[in-house]
Amino acid sequence: MVDTDTGLRILENLNTAVLRFDRGLRLNYINPAGEMLFAASAKQITGQTVEELLPHSGQFTAVLRRSYESGNPYTEREVQLILVNQQTITVDCTVTPLNEPHQENGLLMELLQLDRHLRIAREETLLAQYQTTRTLIRGMAHEIKNPLGGLRGAAQLLERELPDPKLKEYTQVIIGEADRLQNLLNRMLGPNTLPYKRLINIHEIVERVYTLLEAEASEGIKITKDYDPSIPEFKADPDQLIQAVLNIARNALQAMEGNGKITLQTRIQRNVAFGQRHHKNIACINVIDDGPGISPKMIENIFYPLITGRAEGTGLGLPIAQSLVNQHGGLIEYSSHPGKTVFTLLLPLETDYEQ
Ligand SMILES: Nc1ncnc2c1ncn2[C@@H]1O[C@H](COP(=O)(O)OP(=O)(O)OP(=O)(O)O)[C@@H](O)[C@H]1O
Ligand SMILES: [Mg+2]
Repeated sequence: MVDTDTGLRILENLNTAVLRFDRGLRLNYINPAGEMLFAASAKQITGQTVEELLPHSGQFTAVLRRSYESGNPYTEREVQLILVNQQTITVDCTVTPLNEPHQENGLLMELLQLDRHLRIAREETLLAQYQTTRTLIRGMAHEIKNPLGGLRGAAQLLERELPDPKLKEYTQVIIGEADRLQNLLNRMLGPNTLPYKRLINIHEIVERVYTLLEAEASEGIKITKDYDPSIPEFKADPDQLIQAVLNIARNALQAMEGNGKITLQTRIQRNVAFGQRHHKNIACINVIDDGPGISPKMIENIFYPLITGRAEGTGLGLPIAQSLVNQHGGLIEYSSHPGKTVFTLLLPLETDYEQ
């Protein structure tokens, strides 16, 4: 039998969220993992009923009440819960009614968040996707560029020898198209300059994007800012990051077809692992839109070059943004449903990456 102190210490260090409710199903204990999950401090939410904690998950809270009243424990896997801040999380849940003699009745709830694992798996996939594409494009570009240069050169020589200047029209087509292809290849290869880093404030980047977007957006588009001013300065190439955020935000603008809301949000995330590195502090730029969402047919592939859902799109905006952020040791991840699409730029604060 462990003493109360040890028991409490164990609870406080668990990765599983543990919540205890009293007779009225009001919260009277939550461990730190629970506070993280609900993104609220124990002080803020102690005393709330389950319905107040999970106002959008009526079915789930009804099951809890039934379990409490009947005294039967209850377990469910992969339950989707909607938090007060509208964030959806997936959890494995176990509920145990507490009715020991001489003790106040209550209910114990354990929640193990699954999304975090899903998210990490997805991040690994995004990085792998990016690296495979880059290798593929490098190889292909090399094979195309040499003959293309030869073709262009030959057309130029031919042009000089042409007896009739009218025929130049044709050599000009060859030269023009060769240049267009060369350009496309260069864009597909991504940034060819190393980032020129200096100490910057993340809001320099977001404010600039805000101004550019405001100028481009039609009247029906509302652009809002939601900043965390406490994010410390870090070393980055502002031009490259502006380009990355702009590529993402422009997609949102285009997806919304003249009506809707875009939010530019900055946040800090702590203790995040991706790319086999653990990062203590990560600055995040979220670009959120309430447009129709990414088409399910493309959602897994949008970071591959030339994948586009728009007639006039080249499908390079996102892969370019990904390589720019990658040059900063970061990653872009995303989630999308009709009505809510979020692209997140994750930028590690503590590492001064040079690639
Ligand atoms: N916020 C969004 N909402 C809906 N669909 C999106 C969103 N962002 C991206 N997409 C989809 O992903 C596709 C790929 O985007 P990407 O920026 O790579 O290329 P593009 O916008 O089509 O062309 P380019 O940026 O090169 O002009 C888009 O065509 C669009 O279908
Ligand atoms: Mg684009």
